Amino acid sequence: MGPTYGPNPETATAADTHTRKRVNVTEAGHNWCPLIAAAEVEEDDVLCVRACGRNLAVFHIDGDYHVTDDRCTHEEASLSDGYLQDDTIECPRHQGVFHVPSGKPMAAPVTQPLRVYPARVEDGQVWADIPE
Ligand code: FES
Repeated sequence: MGPTYGPNPETATAADTHTRKRVNVTEAGHNWCPLIAAAEVEEDDVLCVRACGRNLAVFHIDGDYHVTDDRCTHEEASLSDGYLQDDTIECPRHQGVFHVPSGKPMAAPVTQPLRVYPARVEDGQVWADIPE
């Protein structure tokens, strides 16, 4: 049986009953967080979204959505300000490159992989499974 969407009884407030897409959905071993309307992330673009206590990069590549940490693993830089080419993102600070779907470092100076979160689109929203 698939997940049911609605307020998480552990975190929901009275206001959440009217904004059900804004609360997390907890299913066994998962914490699905709503990030942004899918239509707001244009094809071949990336946006930074603050959600679930993290700065996340939401990518829209070839019709698929990918969610990673926004911070480069090399030093302090926002990857959503970088250069997206095909399925790689080039960091704006020192031009390190990551493979977006896997987070694998592709070019120096980055050596540590980028954290990638499971993502899906449901009810027009991009969701990511962000550990609590
Ligand atoms: S901060 Fe990203 S490559 Fe250096």
